[in-house]
Parts: sequence; structure tokens; C-alpha cells
Amino acid sequence: MSSTQGQVIRCKAAISWEAGKPLVIEEVEVGPPQKMEVRLKILFTSLCHTDVYFWEAKGQTPMFPRIFGHEAGGIVESVGEGVTDLKPGDHVLPVFTGECKECRHCKSSESNMCDLLRINTDRGVMIEDGKSRFSKNGQPIYHFLGTSTFSEYTVVHVGCLAKINPAAPLDVVCVLSCGISTGLGATLNVAKPTKGSTVAIFGLGAVGLAAAEGARISGASRIIGIDLNASRFNEAKKFGVTEFLNPKDYDKPIHEVIAEMTDGGVDRSVECTGNVNAMISAFECVHDGWGVAVLVGVPNKDDAFKTHPVNILNERTLKGTFFGNYKPRSDIPNVVEKYMNKELELEKFITHRIPFSEINKAFDYMLRGEGLRCMIVMDA
Ligand SMILES: NC(=O)c1ccc[n+]([C@@H]2O[C@H](COP(=O)([O-])OP(=O)(O)OC[C@H]3O[C@@H](n4cnc5c(N)ncnc54)[C@H](O)[C@@H]3O)[C@@H](O)[C@H]2O)c1
Ligand SMILES: [Zn+2]
Ligand SMILES: [Zn+2]
Repeated sequence: MSSTQGQVIRCKAAISWEAGKPLVIEEVEVGPPQKMEVRLKILFTSLCHTDVYFWEAKGQTPMFPRIFGHEAGGIVESVGEGVTDLKPGDHVLPVFTGECKECRHCKSSESNMCDLLRINTDRGVMIEDGKSRFSKNGQPIYHFLGTSTFSEYTVVHVGCLAKINPAAPLDVVCVLSCGISTGLGATLNVAKPTKGSTVAIFGLGAVGLAAAEGARISGASRIIGIDLNASRFNEAKKFGVTEFLNPKDYDKPIHEVIAEMTDGGVDRSVECTGNVNAMISAFECVHDGWGVAVLVGVPNKDDAFKTHPVNILNERTLKGTFFGNYKPRSDIPNVVEKYMNKELELEKFITHRIPFSEINKAFDYMLRGEGLRCMIVMDA
């Protein structure tokens, strides 16, 4: 039993006080875990674009002060009432969407949209009592995605924690906590390209390149990467992307360019940009008769997807996914094992490493489109 069990822990957290303003590292109080909750010590966390959208709050509901962060690796410090399958010392990856193991979704092999713990970007409190576990001088600070990993300690519902092999290096498998599992699963579990097929990937950040990795593993013969940032193309070569398209280089819609180079369209496309026009192009570039497009990017709250219904009548399929359809508790430990067995490479996604005190640099890198994942080391 840890000496801090049942007590409030004082530790450092990166607080976002205002939309778009640098985070401030300050001491916060983290309350003990309540029923079905777990308190974790975060060792490593990385930045995903979803954090940036809600921090900018341009196309999303503002909620401040807030502690962002949802891609991380940590160790259980203490558990609340009713938690039986985790204990202090266990290594875990927190996940923004959970698995209660009891609802219809959790019991279905086709869904990871748990009724109780599915992603909720606008909830800033714990489900159990509608309160925050974080405070500063008595003022509550909102949670983000039920994870809030930009803190040395955080409280998470047990259903949002994947217990993983303690031998797995947390500073690497951390990226499976969101982005890489999402991209990989979007291809392997949702788009499901067959061997020899042609796959288009929109957006070559970490999520898109993980989707490309999924296409490579599936035996795709052509992987066409589309990005507005030409500097992405160099990195993408390490991920099996065979052709590159920058929509800025063409004076016609990119789905038409893709249709011309693929004799009518790609077999599968995976959209990992968050831009609604890219989502529409990703759908319109798949071949009629059999093409499947998968949306992964998080849109602005007022976006609307518009296409002519005949594009759908022509036997194209549009799908979407959160977390690559993986169930966090049941599936993620096995994805970690794929890394341990060298079936999956993760190091190449980690392009920067910084101490927690420099967390704002990770935001700068992402806003400049520089690198893929920036690993933030909590106790450096
Ligand atoms: N569905 C999920 O479960 C899930 C999980 C994680 C991330 N996401 C979302 O996936 C997206 C990618 O995340 P990331 O962390 O890899 O971000 P990133 O910023 O690293 O990568 C996004 C890439 O898309 C490119 N891009 C932007 N607009 C484009 C357009 N119109 N056409 C072509 N390329 C364009 C950017 O240049 C960038 O290279 C984000 O929208 C993120 O919120 C979704
Ligand atoms: Zn994410
Ligand atoms: Zn459930």
C-alpha cells in the first residue's frame, strides 16, 4: 500500500488557464480516487492534435482552467472502491474512450463506443460525482477526456486504463495510448484493405502515418499520402508511403487527381487531418462499387459533411472511428505485445523528447507541423 493512499497529493501540473495561451506549470492538489477510479503517476505523456484543438478552442467549446493531455504512460499509485483488476505498481496506458465491459457496446465485437465511458470532449469532471479531482487553492480545474495527463498525478476511471506488460518501455508504448493505435486500427480494423489494394491516407501526422503502417502490414501495393505540408513527405518515406500528393500543386480537386492516377479511385482511404474538406475528398476519391473511406480526424463542432448522394448510391461506403475501433482494456495489451514481438515499430513516431518544464514547445512543434510525436518526460 502506498503512503499517499487516501490522501490528497500535491504535485506539478501544466494548467491551461485561457484558450491558446501557454500552459503554466503550477502545484495542484489531486484528490484520492473515488469509486471505480484509479490515481496514476504519469511518467511520460505526448501531445496529440486533439489536445491542441480544445486548447485553441477555435472550433470547439471552451472550458478553462483545464488540464489537457490524453496520450500517456503511467503507474498506478492507488485505487478507489470497487477496483479489483488494477493494483498499485501496475503499468497502464490511459485511453480517452473507455470499456466498462458490461454495456451492449462492450459486449459487441463490432463496437468500442461504450455507453458509460465513450469519448466526451465537453465533460470536465468525473462521472462518479460530477466533480473534478484537481484543484488549486480550492478552485476546481477541469479534466480533459477523462485522462488529463499533463500532470504528475491524475485520476482516471478504471474502464479507461489498459493494463500492459510491465517490461514494455513506457516512454515508447506511450504513443499507443492514442495516436498510433487510432491510425493503425483505422486501417486494420475499419478500412480493412485486402492484399494488393490501393490506399490513400489524408494527413501524414502520427495518426496518418500509423494508418499507412496498417496499410503496409495489410499488403497494400500502393499507399498514396496526401498532405498540405510538403515537409511531411520526407518523414513519410520511412512509413511505406509510396506516392505523395500536395493538393496545393494542383488546380483541380484532389479527388479527381487521385481518380486519374488509380483508374477510377482508390480501394480504401483513411482521413487523418480534422479538416472537413479533406474528409469529403477522402470519401469522393474511393472507387465506386467497393471503395471504403474511414474518417478519423476530429472536426470543428459546426462542420457539416456535404457530398452528392449519388456518390453513396454508386456503392461507396463511408465509415468513422474513434481509437481505431480498439477496446482499450481488451485489445491494447495485445497491441503492446506486437511492439514487444517486433511486429510493430514505434520509435520512428517519436521525433522529439523534452522535459515537462518545456511542455509548451510540444505545442509549438505541432502548430508548425514539425515532427510527429513529442515525448514529454515528467521527471526529467
Ligand atoms: N478519431 C480518433 O479516435 C482520433 C484519435 C486521435 C487523433 N484524432 C485526430 O486525428 C487527426 C490527426 O492527428 P495528428 O495528431 O496526427 O495531427 P497532426 O497535426 O500531427 O497531423 C495532421 C496532418 O494533416 C495535415 N492536413 C491538415 N489539413 C489538411 C488538408 N486539408 N489536406 C491534407 N492534409 C491536411 C497537416 O499538414 C498534418 O500533417 C486530428 O484531427 C486529431 O484530432 C482522432
Ligand atoms: Zn489523441
Ligand atoms: Zn461499456
